[in-house]
Amino acid sequence: MSSAEHIKESYERFPYPGNDLAALIEGKGSLPALSWMQGIGRPGCVKPQRVLVAGCGTGVEAFLMRSWLPHAEIVAMDFSPRSIAVARQLEKKAKVGRPITFLVGDLTDVQLARKIGRQFDLITCHGVLSYIPEPGRALKVLATCMAADGALYLGVNGAGHPTVALRPWLKSFGVVVDELRDERRVRELLQLWDTLHDDELGEQSTMPSSYLASDVCGGHFNNWPLARWRRAARRTGWEVAGTAVLAPALHIVADDGKEKTLYPAGIGELAERLDQIRPAGFHRIMLRRAKAAVAIWCWTGIYTVKFGATSARFYAASQGIRFEAELTPPQIEALKILVKAKFASESWAKPWTRNDAGRRTLWLWAGLGVVAEW
Ligand SMILES: C[S@@+](CC[C@H](N)C(=O)[O-])C[C@H]1O[C@@H](n2cnc3c(N)ncnc32)[C@H](O)[C@@H]1O
Repeated sequence: MSSAEHIKESYERFPYPGNDLAALIEGKGSLPALSWMQGIGRPGCVKPQRVLVAGCGTGVEAFLMRSWLPHAEIVAMDFSPRSIAVARQLEKKAKVGRPITFLVGDLTDVQLARKIGRQFDLITCHGVLSYIPEPGRALKVLATCMAADGALYLGVNGAGHPTVALRPWLKSFGVVVDELRDERRVRELLQLWDTLHDDELGEQSTMPSSYLASDVCGGHFNNWPLARWRRAARRTGWEVAGTAVLAPALHIVADDGKEKTLYPAGIGELAERLDQIRPAGFHRIMLRRAKAAVAIWCWTGIYTVKFGATSARFYAASQGIRFEAELTPPQIEALKILVKAKFASESWAKPWTRNDAGRRTLWLWAGLGVVAEW
């Protein structure tokens, strides 16, 4: 049996995140805020009209997406027929909004776009590519499903993922880590593990069987630093538009006056550098197709801004970031226009590009996700 077949078999046994319909209806999934995905991945664009949930499992993200975008066309696919059957069952019970199309399909199938459609404005792929032996192939296939101004949200394991240390540790107790066999024994050991670990992904021992079967005792793991995910993405024509930890990490660095060392790295390199200092357990990455030749400045909409006579105060509730900037009158005027219009041509940046301090400010704002060049 190939490793892909082995992985599929595991999801057929343990549909993810489970097949408890009541729990799924309550479930909120773990996608980042739509405003963040949209602001970073598709700045200045109208809300997505066509959404693809790639590797949807039993559907929790697709249902969340519909609650955010009740009028959008949502297609959700997975290679596990059993997971799709559970999702369809749940869909029958949900009597709200536009119906979601649930389809069986393989993300590594080069014919996928023909089967599920093209021109999606937003694709989400959360907790999937870490468990695919050929994630680069899936990224290539996803590109064929995407609209030109579309964006892909990718949720994937990082080099700081608990399983990097956890799996060898379980193995040292004689536990088979390629598939979930003795669940009781695994849980006992995880309880011990949890007493000394307090990571961002929560307690391992209390996770459902479906999580243990794929996220701890699965057949294949890509626990990669951001640099490696970015390399795989760039090889298939994607650019990193931002990551969820970039703005908060850069804000801490800038607050301490240490961002100068990073200047003028672009968004992808910046995120990569910060991940090297503090490796994420799980990456939330926004990708879009490689940059257009002529850049347009966009307002991401993630921040609210309050203007004073010579300053502006910025606040992003979703990121917990607040800061103030001293600005010249022409900068204030230009910024007001951008906030109102959502996007502007290159000339918008003129009040900043006259000197190095101004250029650094724009660069920092791009890293913090205030503005995006696209
Ligand atoms: C950990 S689950 C995540 C499910 C869902 N995204 C969530 O977070 O609730 C991974 C899912 O990816 C699916 N999957 C894995 N490899 C796939 C492939 N090559 N094509 C399509 N789906 C795949 C599995 O069947 C499983 O449902």
